[in-house]
Amino acid sequence: MRIAVIGSTGQFGTDLVKTLENGHDVIGLAHKNIEVTDYKSCLILKEYQPDIVINTAAFHKTDQCEEECLKTFNINAIGAKNIAIISGEIGATIVYISTDYVFDGSKNEPYTEDDSTFPINTYGISKVAGEYYTRQNPEHYIIRIASVFGAAGASGKGGNFVETMITKGKKGESIAVIDDVWMSPTYTKDAALALKEIIESKLPYGTYHVTNSGYCSWYQFAEKIFQITGLNPVLTPIKSEEVSMKAKRPLFSALRSTRLPLYGIEMREWKEALCAYLIEKGHIRRGS
Ligand SMILES: NC(=O)c1ccc[n+]([C@@H]2O[C@H](COP(=O)([O-])OP(=O)(O)OC[C@H]3O[C@@H](n4cnc5c(N)ncnc54)[C@H](OP(=O)(O)O)[C@@H]3O)[C@@H](O)[C@H]2O)c1
Repeated sequence: MRIAVIGSTGQFGTDLVKTLENGHDVIGLAHKNIEVTDYKSCLILKEYQPDIVINTAAFHKTDQCEEECLKTFNINAIGAKNIAIISGEIGATIVYISTDYVFDGSKNEPYTEDDSTFPINTYGISKVAGEYYTRQNPEHYIIRIASVFGAAGASGKGGNFVETMITKGKKGESIAVIDDVWMSPTYTKDAALALKEIIESKLPYGTYHVTNSGYCSWYQFAEKIFQITGLNPVLTPIKSEEVSMKAKRPLFSALRSTRLPLYGIEMREWKEALCAYLIEKGHIRRGS
């Protein structure tokens, strides 16, 4: 298949390109090649005539999204609309990468694909709008991922949580991490492999939750990172109300898929995925 990946230099996009290149003709579109907010720029897709368009482009600095609502909606929602329209016109399947922040966190157990969305911040609202625009093309997949860690690191966020913890841990800084916010960490390599399988197996169109299995608090995630790497900083649990943030965040946004197992796709547990990531980045050796 010919697959266009928008946001090909991003954290998820980088692993998607690498993973899909194994068996497919992949066109990586970096921000310099396509501006999703500009319909005319998106017409470049017509030149490539892909069978599938994967849209990973987003503005996802959650606090900044509160202050820059227009930019947030332009990229996450209008961008999705442009891509959905053009992919529909060229008969391509559209894949929109979405987020656990489409939920409000009040369920207190993992959200499945059947749960109703109810976002509580601008980023989440814009991503729900992006999901709706994407659904305008019936041939769509909405892939919700969460709390991502991948070798490339997130654009604009300066890496990811794992790297931030390791850098601080190596400096011997004392570290305070929130212990009352729960989520499903997701290794981009694993999510890319699952998405490849979804596409290749031609699973029914619709929404899929693609996170590593299990969930933890950010504090537990940090604890595990230090346990595996052997770093030993002073790590203190704190409550989210002790940290001043512009955007509200769901306290419990773990995801679970009830659909993928129906097709034999199982995601490994986040702890195992974390080990694999730490090996990939050279933070630990295989077998250690
Ligand atoms: N990171 C997370 O923890 C997380 C969690 C849940 C869901 N998600 C979703 O997962 C997706 C991928 O996240 P990620 O961490 O891989 O993000 P990322 O590293 O920031 O990558 C996003 C990519 O999109 C490009 N881009 C940004 N604005 C664009 C625009 N207007 N037009 C075209 N390209 C644009 C970026 O290019 P430049 O950097 O050059 O601008 C970058 O290559 C996003 O849709 C996000 O909402 C992420």
